[in-house]
Amino acid sequence: MVQLQNLTVSFTGRELYRNVDLFVAADSRIGLVGPNGSGKSTLFRLIRRDLEPDQGTIDIRRDLKIGWLPQTGVVFKDRTVLAEAMSAFKEVEQIDRELAQLEQKLQQGSHGSELLDRYAHLQQERNHAGYAHEAQARKVLAELGFTDEDCSKPTGWSSGGFQVRIALAKLLLEEPDLLLLDEPTNYLDIKAIAWLQEYLQGFRGAYVLITHDRYLLDACVERIWSIERPTVAVYKGNYSSYSNAREERLVQLEKAAQEQQKEIEKAERFIEQFRARKDTAKRVKSRQKALDRMERIVMPEKRKRMRFRFPEAATIYGQVVALEQVGHRFTDRAVLSGVSLIVAAGDRIGLFGANGEGKTTLLRIMSGDLSPSVGLVRQSEKLQIAFYRQGAEELLDPALEVIDEARKEAEGYTLLELRSILGAFLFSGDDIYKPVSVLSGGEKTRLALLKVLLRPSNLLLLDEPTNHLDIDSREVLEEAISDYRNTVIFAAHDRFMIDRLANKTVAVRSGRADVFPGNYTYATSAGKPIVEPVPARKPKPPEPAPQALAPRARPTKAVPRKPASELKDETALLQSRIRELEEKVRTLDTEFQDAKRSFDFARARELWAVRQALLDEIIALRNQV
Ligand SMILES: Nc1ncnc2c1ncn2[C@@H]1O[C@H](COP(=O)(O)OP(=O)(O)OP(=O)(O)O)[C@@H](O)[C@H]1O
Ligand SMILES: [Mg+2]
Repeated sequence: MVQLQNLTVSFTGRELYRNVDLFVAADSRIGLVGPNGSGKSTLFRLIRRDLEPDQGTIDIRRDLKIGWLPQTGVVFKDRTVLAEAMSAFKEVEQIDRELAQLEQKLQQGSHGSELLDRYAHLQQERNHAGYAHEAQARKVLAELGFTDEDCSKPTGWSSGGFQVRIALAKLLLEEPDLLLLDEPTNYLDIKAIAWLQEYLQGFRGAYVLITHDRYLLDACVERIWSIERPTVAVYKGNYSSYSNAREERLVQLEKAAQEQQKEIEKAERFIEQFRARKDTAKRVKSRQKALDRMERIVMPEKRKRMRFRFPEAATIYGQVVALEQVGHRFTDRAVLSGVSLIVAAGDRIGLFGANGEGKTTLLRIMSGDLSPSVGLVRQSEKLQIAFYRQGAEELLDPALEVIDEARKEAEGYTLLELRSILGAFLFSGDDIYKPVSVLSGGEKTRLALLKVLLRPSNLLLLDEPTNHLDIDSREVLEEAISDYRNTVIFAAHDRFMIDRLANKTVAVRSGRADVFPGNYTYATSAGKPIVEPVPARKPKPPEPAPQALAPRARPTKAVPRKPASELKDETALLQSRIRELEEKVRTLDTEFQDAKRSFDFARARELWAVRQALLDEIIALRNQV
């Protein structure tokens, strides 16, 4: 169906691939992998004939229907979700167009019976197709998580995950012969990814799937195109067999390259030695010829890794942020209600929940970006937030050059310093003068991340920061988060990431935010949510109303005053409670060590979670003393 031959592509002097041959058959299931910026999306542009190669040919079957999900830039606005999805049915649009033309003619006074017949026929067909298609569209939308109510809403309200889902729904309704999916799982929650996996397994045509999701690749592909600059190597099998085969291939290649190098050196020595002599001239010449003809083995370019840390501001002790009975609604949707949550210093909180449940809203409220419709947000006075917003890579200015985009946040940095930071994020040499518009998805994410960490912080908020990042870069980011000593709150769909980094998790669902004193596995298996220790108050003293309702940012220090004697009693009580809890922690510590020594990790994890919860309670109590 598609045949790429002898392809060479380079941008501003940097070669992406050279002499590449690839083909797609009618039922190919291909996974396209390679590090950020290696040219995956570019390959799709070539197949879509949106870009001409510097060299080589691209043959595509004439009537081939290609469906493409772009990596970024999916934004629907005007129509309802259902109408947008149904616009995938091109023949309906065709009928509508013809109907409109006929109507015009009829209005202009032509009343031939032929015209009328045609009109009636088309209308019938339109109704028929309309019903069938609507049913089909609703089905696909429902499977992708849209409720009936969602279907009749304008597409504009939905963000992130839902926009991608609408695009995906349209694409699937078009039933193309060849699907080109450019990182479809970014922004998708676990359920939607599972659905996509099943869909692809049953798909009749061919597809090429770009994703950094190893599990999806293992389940859905039978062939891997691996960009290993300057070639694209093709491996049979799924991701696991590819990664074994690739390692083997690299070892062999390395060996062959070493042997070749020895041979070259030997030949060169010979030539050097005997060049001047007449009697060996012929042999020297033939050796030289062989040397020139020899096809040199090129090792795939070594992958570079990002390196960075999040710079930290002075540590805050005690409460960092507290939400009390927070609720929020957008014009037509209630997202959160009655959320109470205390973030204590040193917490590492992972937020999870399906698309559209309100993770982003919660993070924005905690950051002070968004004032909730009801409830109270307290932020520590010394708070310095670094916030990576969801889809930050889309908020960069496409017209600016990389260096100027970075400079926006880099007050006080010299050019040299900035260059070195950019280098750490793998923008080297002339890369820093590239306009943002040509950057690959991963490159944009790297730039957006860099902007976040130019200023020191003591609270790190990250909303799906790994989207578009390749596996290496994800690891580096995870290390940087794990090295950060202050407080971190992050939203992610990647359960492995949550398990690795979080010691507390918050499940955001049905408007609630349940806090679990453990990681994702804990929260979704044995986990019981903790009821946040909202400071136990006596019957509420009548607080001045306007302040109590103030939507945000009252420093935690501002505690309502009480008479001195009452305070003293309460303090003594709190202190004895704290001592009690501390004793418990000590006992737990011994039990924890024992459990670890006997390799009972399940028990150890459980104890650890309890211990963590106790510590939180202690911190909360100390704040009240
Ligand atoms: N018009 C252009 N001018 C200069 N460089 C370009 C242009 N278009 C793309 N590039 C560069 O080509 C490289 C490949 O880009 P591409 O988008 O294909 O990468 P990718 O493999 O899809 O990466 P990612 O995993 O980050 O999405 C990138 O370094 C990108 O900056
Ligand atoms: Mg890409």
